[in-house]
Amino acid sequence: MPVITVMPSGKQIEAAEGVSILAALLDSGEDLAHKCEGKAECGSCHIFVLEGRKGISRTQKLENEKLDTMVGIGSKSRLACQAIIGSDNLTVEILGFN
Ligand code: FES
Repeated sequence: MPVITVMPSGKQIEAAEGVSILAALLDSGEDLAHKCEGKAECGSCHIFVLEGRKGISRTQKLENEKLDTMVGIGSKSRLACQAIIGSDNLTVEILGFN
């Protein structure tokens, strides 16, 4: 099972392959905003994927379009609801302004 290291706490959680990072974080008890319930519409689940980006699903059109409308976006930005976990371990950063 892939392990997700959650920054800034450093907490490590085991996640199932094929689920979104958002679902894995919520299942582990992390408090991550998700106002549109995973439709790539609200942007509130914005995270940075610090390590393991190549192992998760590629950014699709809907996610790209939403990210383009947001501030504070960088090369490591993903919407946690749209990024599907593969077999690789990840390090993600939950942003304080959610
Ligand atoms: S929950 Fe709204 S964009 Fe991810």
